[in-house]
Amino acid sequence: MKMASFKEIISTLPRRKGWNDSDNDLFLYRSFYYYSFFIEGVMSAQQNFQSQPSDIIICSASKTRTTWLKSLTFAIVTRTTFDDSTNPLLTNLSHDCVPLLEVDLAQSSTNRDPKNPLSIIDSSGKIVYICRDPKDSFVSLYHFIARRLASKDMKPLALEEAFELYCGASLDRPDKILFLKYEEMIEDTILYIKKIADFIGYPFSFEEIEKGSVEKIVNMCSFENLSNLEVNKSGKHREGTPGAIENKIFFRKGKVGDWENYLTPEMAARLDSITLQKLNGSGLTL
Ligand code: A3P
Repeated sequence: MKMASFKEIISTLPRRKGWNDSDNDLFLYRSFYYYSFFIEGVMSAQQNFQSQPSDIIICSASKTRTTWLKSLTFAIVTRTTFDDSTNPLLTNLSHDCVPLLEVDLAQSSTNRDPKNPLSIIDSSGKIVYICRDPKDSFVSLYHFIARRLASKDMKPLALEEAFELYCGASLDRPDKILFLKYEEMIEDTILYIKKIADFIGYPFSFEEIEKGSVEKIVNMCSFENLSNLEVNKSGKHREGTPGAIENKIFFRKGKVGDWENYLTPEMAARLDSITLQKLNGSGLTL
């Protein structure tokens, strides 16, 4: 199937106003609202991407600390390949170290044989999933989009209007998927790094734990360290493409509970109730 036919399919999907401007609607695809370029990527990845048993797939919704989880996972896997001063995370945004399946790999089969569109589910590769209090994710997303729009001289939506759009949008196999809650990870990051490492098949040895390898990863991937690296203060992600953005907008405050500075108690209660309704019984409610 060619890209044109993806576009045709997308044009038939239910749509709603996006956060950018009226030309950029969101489309409902398999219970989620996405921008159309992203759905094209999803469809293309479903056709072209063949998962391998060695794959580690990091899954997240927008603004749930993907940047952090990508850097932790990359650091765990590469800890014996690089030393403290040569790790690519020190000179590259973590999104440039760990590709985005629906964008960076969507068109390429990367020597993989695309026979099975559900290969990620069927293969023995591992999936690590992170979620975060949706109130904080909303505030984070609002700032992210406002800063992106500011760089294009476009007026951002009012917080209240964005909130309305956010509210309208919309386990088994424990060997296959590791579910992480950001708020729990931040309480005991060392424990969770060990859990991720065990789960993805890169466990820390007793000697590594004794000599502080886990703490080194915590420190290297900390908000303070990564956000102060030159690459993340002045570098650009996808430079030279229409989707280019400054690396620094992936780093804002890095705090839990910042929503209290932006949402009214009514807004918070409403989002909590939607979260409860959608996740009831999943074990993922915070
Ligand atoms: P805030 O906007 O609340 O500060 P994502 O990585 O999924 O795009 O989510 C972005 C959020 O993660 C932002 O949250 C950002 O500041 C925070 N973040 C980025 N890097 C981080 C890190 N190394 N440690 C903790 N939080 C980080």
